[in-house]
Amino acid sequence: MAQDRFTGVGLGLRRPHLEQVAQMDNHGVPFWETCPENVIGDGGRDHRWACAILDRDPVLTHGLAISVGGFDPWDEAYLRDLDRFLVRTGTPWHSEHLCFTRVDGNCLHELLPLPFTRDAARHTIARARELQARLPVPLLLENITYYAELGASEMDEGDFITEVLEGADVGWLLDVNNVYVNALNFGFDPKAWLSRMPLERVDQLHIAGHKRFGAITVDTHGADVIEPVIDLMQWTLARLGRPVPVLLERDNHIPDLDLLLAERARLQTAYDAAMAPVEVRHA
Ligand SMILES: [Fe+2]
Repeated sequence: MAQDRFTGVGLGLRRPHLEQVAQMDNHGVPFWETCPENVIGDGGRDHRWACAILDRDPVLTHGLAISVGGFDPWDEAYLRDLDRFLVRTGTPWHSEHLCFTRVDGNCLHELLPLPFTRDAARHTIARARELQARLPVPLLLENITYYAELGASEMDEGDFITEVLEGADVGWLLDVNNVYVNALNFGFDPKAWLSRMPLERVDQLHIAGHKRFGAITVDTHGADVIEPVIDLMQWTLARLGRPVPVLLERDNHIPDLDLLLAERARLQTAYDAAMAPVEVRHA
């Protein structure tokens, strides 16, 4: 199965490292994650470096452009380009966010939470099913961070996510840092929260750093991953009991590649430690 190629801890492919990665023979990264919007389009040096990596290494794709829970019509040109791009990369799935990002044709450049209501769940389920039918690979939706609920909620975030994933019958890109950040901001136990979620739908994890600003914690993706988030990753992997791929996201204060590779290696050690008892059980 194509999915068997994707285990361990991968890295988000970022512009400052493209040339270096493309020219490395042995970087040790089992797979990359790339944002199609950054690669689809015309040439240029960065584009050529990115394509060289995508044609050489295993790649997962993760988009920001589709407002899955919104009301804007689909961007047909983008969906056509995306279809070709997903086939070219050979990615086993494509992920987007469980949120909305566009209103009346305007990109808001933010991942905004949907109202936790039955109407919003029904609407998002229908949209996710439509989107899934347009993609050549399975769709995963990612849980986001949010800092306030939108309007009067009829359910909590966990129930909303579960209802959408199950109603749309799509996979879950579980971002454990987002769970941790939401747990800090809204005051809940992340492991208890995860224990009641449909973990059987998880096909991939995200992990990242965050930052506290007084009473609010923000998923900045701008710092190394802290131990409690690594612990949550390990706890989740053990609970899943299968080698789901983990992707390290770094979008701000991007360090030199050697430092980022060292951070990935640190997470890989934690990943291997979490998977060791699982492998013994299956031996
Ligand atoms: Fe993420």
